[in-house]
Amino acid sequence: MKQPTTKRGFSGKLGYVLATAGSAVGLGNIWRFPYLAAKYGGGAFLLVYIILALTFGYAMIMSETALGRMTGKSPVGAFSRFSRRGLVRAGGWINAVIPILIVPYYSVIGGWVLHYLLGYLRGQSAAMADDAFFTAFLASPLMMELCFLAFALMTMLVIFSGVQHGIERVSKIMMPVLVVLSLIVVGYSVTRPGALAGVRYFLIPDFRSFSLMTFVSALGQMFYSLSIAMGILITFGSYTGRDVNIESTTAQVEIFDTLIAILAGLMIIPAVFAFSGGDAAALNKGPALMFVTLPKVFSSMGGAWIGILFFLLVLLAALTSSVSLAESACATFEDELGWSRPRSAALMSVILVGLGSLSCLGFNLLSGVTPMGMDILSFFDFLTNSVMMPVAAAAICLLILFVIGLDRMETEISSSSPFRRRRVYRIVIRYFALVLLAVILISSLADAFGLIHI
Ligand code: PFF
Repeated sequence: MKQPTTKRGFSGKLGYVLATAGSAVGLGNIWRFPYLAAKYGGGAFLLVYIILALTFGYAMIMSETALGRMTGKSPVGAFSRFSRRGLVRAGGWINAVIPILIVPYYSVIGGWVLHYLLGYLRGQSAAMADDAFFTAFLASPLMMELCFLAFALMTMLVIFSGVQHGIERVSKIMMPVLVVLSLIVVGYSVTRPGALAGVRYFLIPDFRSFSLMTFVSALGQMFYSLSIAMGILITFGSYTGRDVNIESTTAQVEIFDTLIAILAGLMIIPAVFAFSGGDAAALNKGPALMFVTLPKVFSSMGGAWIGILFFLLVLLAALTSSVSLAESACATFEDELGWSRPRSAALMSVILVGLGSLSCLGFNLLSGVTPMGMDILSFFDFLTNSVMMPVAAAAICLLILFVIGLDRMETEISSSSPFRRRRVYRIVIRYFALVLLAVILISSLADAFGLIHI
């Protein structure tokens, strides 16, 4: 198929790789990955995660990027390029709507990170070690809203600047800074007394701690972390040309994303071990691990500066991801409504402030509103990542299998470079993808209805 020309686009391969890595590396790596790994078996979780990323994750990233590049369009346009049937268009829309719903609640968590960074900068390290710090913050609608709005504003400023001047330039600066900051924090964390037991727990697989939940949670985390089925990779694929070797850039993004997740595990898990001696209650903290347990660890280590560095790095990572989510949403508005970038960005800003404020208020003024027994933020997370994401990914696989055809995908991928892992790609998409997606959907629903505990 002829490559359609778009006015938006990355300036070259480096811009594309860094922006895609920036979209992948985010709260998923630093906040979510370590608490899941701590809870579900450390090294066993890590191993399963890597195997899934190299097979299933690899095939999904390749598919989305190729789909974007082939059509030059964001998700809805990309899907409807192959068929005008309603069901096919619906597949595009579900991929397009996901980032629109994620960016608001993601920015609320970004606001929490900002609040912690400011707390360390103001020298509140001791106060932040108290559980009351987080609960008092959640209970204050004004503080929550202000932090959220500040984070949302940073995100939208980048979006208003366009692709090359916005997302590409920001990623080129932030990604290297992120790596340097990560290495400093890891160096500090693993050299604390007692931390080595944590390094061992995290890096050496012990299959006695393997369970079905290890597999299911690693599978869901892989989608989250690599930004699969979020519309982002299709959109970014549409910004690239045939000078980009999709296979090698996919490998680079996966390696970078997994490396940062491992570094985040090495920042947090050994520090928690040094603090608690590997106590199961500390390791099972879940989402609170970063906001409640870690400040205690930092304060016991007596270094406020480590708190500053850590939360600065989380902020940068979260920002590049929220920018990518918003970019994907704006591209849909531009393509489907024919709107200019400022107008699309303005619409995204309105949705962002509206839905994000609802998530903020869900912890205080609207705490009585609990869809499916969850607070509003958790509900949006559940709806997008547990329900819509597997359906969106299945829509991509079905489009490839039954409308486009695997051969045509291969032709697209190999148009810019030899396709080395063709067999892995075919086997995953043809035989495994739909089954694994059904596993994610069923297990998340079973978890939400209290039948199992993820
Ligand atoms: N992959 C990014 C992260 O790990 O934070 C971006 C992202 C993906 C954000 C999925 C939110 C989300 F639900």
